[in-house]
Amino acid sequence: KAPGKTPGKKPVRRIKPEQLRSKAWFDNPANADMTALYIERTMNFGLSREELQSGRPIIGIAQTGSDIAPCNRHHIELAARVRDGIREMGGVPFEFPIHPIQETCKRPTAALDRNLQYLSLVEILYGYPLDGVVLTTGCDKTTPAQIMAAATVDIPAIALPGGPMLNGSFRGERTGSGTIVWKARQMMAAGEIDYKGFVELVASSAPSAGHCNTMGTASTMNSLAEAMGMTLPGAAAIPAPYRDRYEMAYLTGKRIVEMVWENLIPSKILTREAFENTIVINSAIGGSTNAPVHVNAIAKHIGVKLDNEDWTKIGYEIPLLVNLQPAGEYLGEDYYRAGGLPAVIAELIEKGKLKPAITANGKTLEENCKGAFSIAREVIKSYDQPMKAQSGFLNLSGNLFDSAIMKTSVITPEFRKRYLENPKDPMAFEGRAIVFDGPEDYHDRIDDPALAIDEHCILFIRGVGPIGYPGAAEVVNMRPPDYLIKKGVTALACVGDGRQSGTSGSPSILNASPEAATGGGLALLKTGDKVRIDLKKRTANILISDDELAERKSAFKASGGYKYPKSQTPWQEIQRKIVDELSEGMVLKPAVKYQKIHKK
Ligand code: FES
Ligand code: MG
Repeated sequence: KAPGKTPGKKPVRRIKPEQLRSKAWFDNPANADMTALYIERTMNFGLSREELQSGRPIIGIAQTGSDIAPCNRHHIELAARVRDGIREMGGVPFEFPIHPIQETCKRPTAALDRNLQYLSLVEILYGYPLDGVVLTTGCDKTTPAQIMAAATVDIPAIALPGGPMLNGSFRGERTGSGTIVWKARQMMAAGEIDYKGFVELVASSAPSAGHCNTMGTASTMNSLAEAMGMTLPGAAAIPAPYRDRYEMAYLTGKRIVEMVWENLIPSKILTREAFENTIVINSAIGGSTNAPVHVNAIAKHIGVKLDNEDWTKIGYEIPLLVNLQPAGEYLGEDYYRAGGLPAVIAELIEKGKLKPAITANGKTLEENCKGAFSIAREVIKSYDQPMKAQSGFLNLSGNLFDSAIMKTSVITPEFRKRYLENPKDPMAFEGRAIVFDGPEDYHDRIDDPALAIDEHCILFIRGVGPIGYPGAAEVVNMRPPDYLIKKGVTALACVGDGRQSGTSGSPSILNASPEAATGGGLALLKTGDKVRIDLKKRTANILISDDELAERKSAFKASGGYKYPKSQTPWQEIQRKIVDELSEGMVLKPAVKYQKIHKK
């Protein structure tokens, strides 16, 4: 690319009606028999020949909302406004359901279904007469799954985020969905509230339709969909029930028809520059530790090289600007009123932190957001007076794993004091390892006095990666034993080959790859081992000799490898055979070679 050339400035080359993909189905005289079959059945719900055969784009609306996917359920109503927008621009809407995902109810974990929703949407986008698609995003995995599918098929696609719930509140204090659960659980463990109070407190955090109102994985991934250019500007932060959300649905419907004529396909939007911007923006919003998993997966499916080292190199130095729970105090409505993601982007543009990259409306982030500064500085801070100085992820490696990440923006002063303020060795700590094999083992033994857990121990959980606990469980943020919580120790250092909820404020070291189930170093660790974590050198090692490590490796091999529970469903078994590590985006390995398949 020539320096200084802005991608958004290129003249738009429009495609002609004869070039529409749907024409091969609905208006193809060379294959009249098949056209007849396609068209008579498609017309039977009342569509006319004129709508199907006069060169109008057929626009899919991938519907993720249903009664079992409540975070996205209002997309059923929003889709009516999307349809209006599509019609307004001369398109024909085709709404269809896709495999539902809801984060908190799905057993054993919703992450198991991300790749299933991806697969099912790929089949629909490839196999049916669609010229473009609106992706109805919201609850955690529904956003990456659909963008991954759009990346694989590479037909024009735009995401419509569902938006967060209204702010939760309990006795005058903000309660954030997801985040409050961790706090309420601690309060119950400390005897401050009973079970009834626990349920009441948790329910207060979810007062309306919408996805989690904290900067959990849902708000993160929708903000990042906007950051990577897959939505209209400002689409992510509008609360679900607001009037503006319905207007955004209408504008999104209008825009997708134009995107079809402009042939603005995902591979033109999802460039290396767009992913670099996404990493920078994730640090500034204090995004979820699930972001690298999902964003690396989207990059793999569009064919852009991206790894966890990029997250540290590009994102670590960026300050935290958004004061939202779990890293801060506010919630979704406050974020929107302060200016939403465009206000964050405006700060980053001013400091020259973002690269030119085109977005769904055909303009760059800079053209869309320059000068859109926050109008509530307590919620969205300026770059020069941030919440925290460095808020990206650290990518660690050593004999415990090749890659694991840590979200440093949630390190509390208490945690820092206990583990990191060692004058001889700042930013490094050593501790006795306490090892759990999966969440059941952890729940059974965490309060067992025999483990003699003290405030300098490091808790490990393994067997919870994409294969060990199919889909990778969100369990790495383990609470300390009750007796330590009562002493005021609210968090111990936690390490694991699973994930952690984006709504959790724990500074865990997670997504460790390779996982124990594929023979990663965590499988060799024993309770009582001394472990050293050095955040400056970005290393994590069991402090044993090379000989001992080699001995443990051969004993592990001879034992037949790491034992994990049997699959409970066919999909668990199928995915276990073909899924990649968390550091690689947990993608289905054979799927990655399928790129731009709409042409084939
Ligand atoms: Fe669906 Fe949080 S549980 S968005
Ligand atoms: Mg989650």
